[in-house]
Amino acid sequence: MMRRLPLLTVLLATAMPASAAAPRASGTPHAVTFDRHSVMIDGRPTVLWGGEFHPFRLPSPDLWRDILQKMKASGYNTVAIYFDWGYHSPKRGVYDFTGVRDMDRVLRMAAEEGLYVITRAGPYVNAELTRGGFPGWLVNQSAKARTDDPEYLAAADEWLTRINAIIARHQLTDGRGTVILHQIENELAVVQPTQARYMQHLYDKARADGITVPIFHNDQGRNGYWVPKGANVPKTVEGPVDLYAFDGYPGATCDVHNRPTNGPPAPDWGLYGTGGARGGASASPNTPGFAAEFGGGWFDYWGSNGGYDCNAVQRGKRYQRVFYGTNIANGITVQSFYMTYGGTSWGWLPAPVVYTSYDYGAAIDEARGLRPKALELKQLGQFLAAAPDIARMDRAPPATASDPDIQVYHNVNAATGARLLFVTHKPSNGRSDDRFTITAALKDGPTTFPAGAPMRLNGFDGKLLLADFRLERQELVYSTSELQTHLPLGDTDLALFYGRAGEPGETVLRYATQPTVTGPVEQVYDAAKGRLRLNYTHAGIARVQITGGGRPPLTLLLADEDSAARFFRTESAAGPVLSHGPDLVRSATATGGTLALTGDVAVAAPLEIWGPPAVRTLRWNGRALPVTRGPGDSLVTAALPGPAVIALPPLTDWRQAPESPEAQLGFDDSRWADAKGARQTATIRPPVGQPNLGMDAYGFHEGDVWYRGRFAGGTDARKLTLHYGAGGAGMLQVWLDGTFVGQHELAGGLPRPITTGVADFVLPVRAQAAGEHLLSVMVRNNSHNWDLDTDDFHKETRGLISASLAAPTSHSFAVPIAWKIQGTQGGEDIVDPVRGVANNGGLFGEREGWHLPGFADGGWAKTPAPAGTPSTAATPGTTWYRTAFDLGIPTDQDATIGIAIGNTAKPRSDGTYRVLIFVNGWNMGQFVANVGPQRIFPVPAGILNHRGRNTLALAVTGDGKAGSALEPVKLVTIRNVRGGIPVAAVPFPSWRARAR
Ligand code: GAL
Repeated sequence: MMRRLPLLTVLLATAMPASAAAPRASGTPHAVTFDRHSVMIDGRPTVLWGGEFHPFRLPSPDLWRDILQKMKASGYNTVAIYFDWGYHSPKRGVYDFTGVRDMDRVLRMAAEEGLYVITRAGPYVNAELTRGGFPGWLVNQSAKARTDDPEYLAAADEWLTRINAIIARHQLTDGRGTVILHQIENELAVVQPTQARYMQHLYDKARADGITVPIFHNDQGRNGYWVPKGANVPKTVEGPVDLYAFDGYPGATCDVHNRPTNGPPAPDWGLYGTGGARGGASASPNTPGFAAEFGGGWFDYWGSNGGYDCNAVQRGKRYQRVFYGTNIANGITVQSFYMTYGGTSWGWLPAPVVYTSYDYGAAIDEARGLRPKALELKQLGQFLAAAPDIARMDRAPPATASDPDIQVYHNVNAATGARLLFVTHKPSNGRSDDRFTITAALKDGPTTFPAGAPMRLNGFDGKLLLADFRLERQELVYSTSELQTHLPLGDTDLALFYGRAGEPGETVLRYATQPTVTGPVEQVYDAAKGRLRLNYTHAGIARVQITGGGRPPLTLLLADEDSAARFFRTESAAGPVLSHGPDLVRSATATGGTLALTGDVAVAAPLEIWGPPAVRTLRWNGRALPVTRGPGDSLVTAALPGPAVIALPPLTDWRQAPESPEAQLGFDDSRWADAKGARQTATIRPPVGQPNLGMDAYGFHEGDVWYRGRFAGGTDARKLTLHYGAGGAGMLQVWLDGTFVGQHELAGGLPRPITTGVADFVLPVRAQAAGEHLLSVMVRNNSHNWDLDTDDFHKETRGLISASLAAPTSHSFAVPIAWKIQGTQGGEDIVDPVRGVANNGGLFGEREGWHLPGFADGGWAKTPAPAGTPSTAATPGTTWYRTAFDLGIPTDQDATIGIAIGNTAKPRSDGTYRVLIFVNGWNMGQFVANVGPQRIFPVPAGILNHRGRNTLALAVTGDGKAGSALEPVKLVTIRNVRGGIPVAAVPFPSWRARAR
């Protein structure tokens, strides 16, 4: 359990210097406590600045480290991780935590990379996952999920026992890792006694399983659901949690044309709160302001126009300063952005509300590149690390601006006297161009500044300013430039400040006597007040040296915003290092006079570093570099080379085979299950007297499912009506006696998709001929719903719900049909446990391993290219295409290669077909030509062999109409840098080794 530290320790701790890094797993236990201001680590108040990352959305474990390093380099000190129960459990009692599912490994890596971890283990997580993270087999429970029904709790405990044990091995409190906070459940907004008992069960279970860090739950909004017991705040629901946290995705969204719109202002969800049921007051006054999820982008839906780039802008640069900045000013000291790396909902992971790409418009894009917004986040994260005083601030006397369109939040840390002045428009979504001064009661008394040219706020923007702030061995009176970082360089101090390009800046420092200043600044020394005022314009990087004045020398780097954003800060054993030039600096290791840096270069540029004075020589990615002294106290190298262009092979030598044999009369379905009699737990049920046709009841949960139904021909056998459930942009195909009858698709193009449908088919007249006839039906199940509202929505039927064959005017189920069913090979006993649940689908080709490397396709027909011309009719049903290709990406380069289909400038095609894309046997996504919008499917290194042979298999399912043929398929380089980290091939079975 948590230990609370004496107040004295806390007060002493406030004066401690910034600690950017989470401690490595040192074996030394750390106390994790909290008060109304912040979480404290060994008594040290700490702002947790986090981002969400889902290892299950990046099935190449070595790349987890790439993401974690990029987060660290982007100023984060915390990563938040959901765990997906269904990802690990194909069958009741069967769990797998190996390979791409090794969660110990990601927690170990986070500790090695110096990031705190917020663990979010469900059992329910939402996360735009099929069933919101519940396993397939759970839909066969009649117990209502997310209640204390014993049937459900027994299932949940199976998972929790295992995942809690893993998390418990990596806690800061034991010194064995960096797990700092733990979440139970997810946005549980229905609050009946059964949910209260359920929550208590989850809390007790976590504690019994050895979780010792503080526990919280994430309220769907700032509603007051599940706040710690005892505060007695009206209109809140108390529950078994140590901390109260809420989620929020405020601000504008993109319109359907992907244009960002000007949304509402940033809400005050803390110290400055005014609205809501509690008059703005916190639902939990004794615990820190805690945003467990705050918008870091948004997800995109089947049939959109491709919204991720817009989301990246909408919840990107400037939004972050204004909205995250408002949170900081409101004393929200735990913030985690959802998502920071969204990744890929590969295979059958995605919920119906999303397609394969879960890019999310996040700071790190799906191809693992840093978006421009990541550089701004880095500035904010570095600022928080540089100003630990922010962890304990309260409102100070109001500061005013000379312009009514500007507002200034003014906070003070009572222990250190440091002040935060957060400047935005009033309201904060204003976009005018204003020039103004600020008046605030600072330590020296009422102060109006700047004294030189006025401050400027031009457009949607916010500025986090500091005053009365101790900066290494210097004292900042105030600055209208924003602080990015400061560090000691032996006897000298260094500080990096920045502002918008071309705008004036003013920095005032305290000196007992007049110091000597060199550099492109105007200076005024006020002997009476002992203050040195510097005035300048933010342009490029100005280097200013200040010596004398009774303090150690100070190097000021005064940069424009874009120049400053290119600085990385890394910690070496000999001290911090500031670097400029490369596109990413991952790590710094000091040995004697040598500093070894690792990182990525996208565009050739010299490297300049400021680091420990003993450093004389530099290594970059293992190679020694000649250095010269830079202006002032830096070291500079010649330009680091950028990446070589990658030559990608064309995809040729295709082979092709027709599939869908289940449609044919002669197909042997003797081993298929009879679809009748299975227990019914789904939320949509067939009419009385009809069998349960839902696929889940027969143990088939992911991907496609086939039905073969036999009936006796007759005059009533005319109109076939199929009620079915198929998730987002799902579909169904029907054959009669081997002849294609037609298909029906669920419409895309809606943020909340239609997930069930009713399809009517007029059967060919042969159905009326006497004798037995065969209906073959394939349902493409694009996943199960989430359970957002705790109403068992995840149990909505998938596959057929009911079938009626009758005369057109009849309302009865005139003709009885005897159905058989087959989905994934082996059902819950999945045949490919290495690739796992999300990779086991139900097409004939998948059941036979046609998607796997090593499958003998020599007997298949050769075809020059998979694409017919758009006017070529394809065969209705599914056709497979296979080819192989070799890659030779240079060993010192990191790239993301994707599979592109058709005209990537258009979100949709005219043809009606869809493609499952298998790379080396891994289902890397689904292209739906007539729905869109995704046409480029990134494949992570490790799944893709960057230096050798790869197998590509495409399962193309279409209506056979002219124009529904597969469009050209090619490889594309989505991202390419010189650098990266070693990535081992993900071990996986080929066709021969596969259990069948
Ligand atoms: C939250 C939920 C997350 C995710 C997010 C939207 O409400 O907790 O799991 O669904 O919304 O991406």
